[in-house]
Amino acid sequence: MSEIITEVDGGVMRLRLNRPGKKNALTKAMYDALTAALLQAGADTAIRAVILSAEGGDFCAGNDILDFAQNMAGLQDADLDEIAVFQFLKALTFFEKPLIAAVQGQAVGVGVTLLLHCDLIVAAEDIRLSLPFLKLGLVPEAGSTLLLPQRIGHARAFAWMALGEVIGAEAAKEMGLVNKVVSVGEVMPAAEAMAQALVKLSPSSLRHTKAFMRDPEALWQVIRAEGQVFRQQLMSPEAQAAFMAFMSRSAG
Ligand code: COA
Repeated sequence: MSEIITEVDGGVMRLRLNRPGKKNALTKAMYDALTAALLQAGADTAIRAVILSAEGGDFCAGNDILDFAQNMAGLQDADLDEIAVFQFLKALTFFEKPLIAAVQGQAVGVGVTLLLHCDLIVAAEDIRLSLPFLKLGLVPEAGSTLLLPQRIGHARAFAWMALGEVIGAEAAKEMGLVNKVVSVGEVMPAAEAMAQALVKLSPSSLRHTKAFMRDPEALWQVIRAEGQVFRQQLMSPEAQAAFMAFMSRSAG
């Protein structure tokens, strides 16, 4: 079974992360599949909204750490535009149609920062959102150094990033990070109901509204700048030690 399940029906594309045994940690192949699906959804006039969700008890444990370790040399040398994660982030940044996220359980790293690109977020009561970048010797990515302070203010964004707090459903709702908190079983139905409301609207009205609300060119420049520093930081002793510790834990 594919690690990204794509389904199109009733004007809605449903994208489902399907690697629950690894908490849906994202590999290069998964980024490639997500990028292809977003480009398809953008180009197909019959698709009016996309729902991003995940199989299993947790939404996404971030970038696959083994993948990071194995592709370290390639990540340092390549043009950012040729790296799978950046191709995904570019497709996400320039995606013109409404994107709805349905989130349950743990979301970590890019599993959280990709949510900042979504237009509507339904969260289960059990969400636990964490941004461990600084603890790992890295820097926040995916435009989150711009999007997160915009969304929740500098003080809360900095505290979350630097102090390693885990944000639950109540705090996420209160900070305006998510639109709705429901029980785990209600996450997909609530996301579907939002999608059904959106497909009834004029696609061009939606596209213009989303375009007025964000500046993808400026965001993309931030993502590139963060990315340059992120990959330098991957070589830092702190990051190397953190990855080794995680991998030796998995091997043990
Ligand atoms: N990359 C690769 N594998 C990962 C992963 C990641 N980011 N996150 C989880 N996994 C794997 C684990 O290695 C484990 O695999 P195994 O069963 O083959 O040993 C499986 O997913 C389950 O994870 P586990 O750690 O046992 O679950 P947990 O509920 O105790 O903890 C997390 C969940 C997400 C808190 C923990 O896995 C974690 O901290 N992961 C790393 C997250 C991270 O730092 N991501 C950002 C990278 S920038």
